[in-house]
Amino acid sequence: MERPHILVTRPLFAQTLARLSQHFRVDAHTEERPLTKATLIQRLQSKQGVLAVGGDRIDAEVLEACPGLRICANFGVGYDNLDIEAMTRRGVLATNAPDVLTETTADFAFALLMATARRVTESERFVRTGQWNHGRYDLFAGCDVHGSTLGIIGLGRIGQAIARRAVGGFDMRVLYHKRTRLSREDEARFSVTYAAKDELLQAADHVLLVLPFSAATRHTIGERELSLMKATATLVNVARGGIVDDEALARALRDRRIAAAGLDVFEREPNVHPDLLEASNIVLTPHIASATIRTRRAMAELAAENLIAYFLRGVASTPINPEVLRSRVAVHGSTLRPHAGNLPR
Ligand code: 8YV
Repeated sequence: MERPHILVTRPLFAQTLARLSQHFRVDAHTEERPLTKATLIQRLQSKQGVLAVGGDRIDAEVLEACPGLRICANFGVGYDNLDIEAMTRRGVLATNAPDVLTETTADFAFALLMATARRVTESERFVRTGQWNHGRYDLFAGCDVHGSTLGIIGLGRIGQAIARRAVGGFDMRVLYHKRTRLSREDEARFSVTYAAKDELLQAADHVLLVLPFSAATRHTIGERELSLMKATATLVNVARGGIVDDEALARALRDRRIAAAGLDVFEREPNVHPDLLEASNIVLTPHIASATIRTRRAMAELAAENLIAYFLRGVASTPINPEVLRSRVAVHGSTLRPHAGNLPR
């Protein structure tokens, strides 16, 4: 039988590509510039698998145009770039890359929080541009992180890792808000207190966003929410662009209605709202919260592992829609030849 043909949508570790090449015919996009939708469709039409990197969108239109596609392995834990419902309907397996990036992303969330609250990049620009010719008592005086109140919206795996750092390392009081409240045991285990969203926004010295993006979480932080926050508060987003209304945030920063913001993600990445670029009280990073070499390698390897396990054994380590695996055995068992015993129940 001919080896499956897969597309890797952006440049990736040579080692991962070599591993994939042992099992598949690999078409790897090697240029920095992302594929346009038309080119993505064109290159994906002959493929059975895709390793989607950098949030490349595999939506209903792409799926419709690529009926041979069987699996989409996402390089990342968040999968708002994939139309899971359409994939499930078409029997296309989707996988993501959870866990391997949890601690690295939590480290970065803290780095961004510290940089924002203590005005690290703003003061660096001051030094670099030769403006340091005095030492005022309040020169770049920011907000304390230790001993303050942190409000985390979205307390999943990454949020919990952030809470651990906040409580254990920085003696912070941690409030959290989440669609589904944790059990009392888990709240005690993480030393976190549940709060309604508005209550959290009013009480927190620092608000940190780590919730997944969906139509329901779009603009979780907008004009109204920003107006509830303390004038001395900072806002940090390591989750997804679109969870914050960037335009409303730019206005709040300009009018000093909140003290500062740290953003790793943006509504129209890689384009940043021009008014955010104008603000001095903001730290901007290019969606790099999971970016250490070790973690990015682990993410790539997990995505590759999912592709290999699926085509060779009809299973996957981290499926998003495992029901596809079960139904494909029934419908396409002869083409996939999975070991039914390995399938999730
Ligand atoms: C990646 C991420 O930078 O895992 C996620 O959801 O946002 C990041 O780890 C992104 O997926 C790059 O493809």
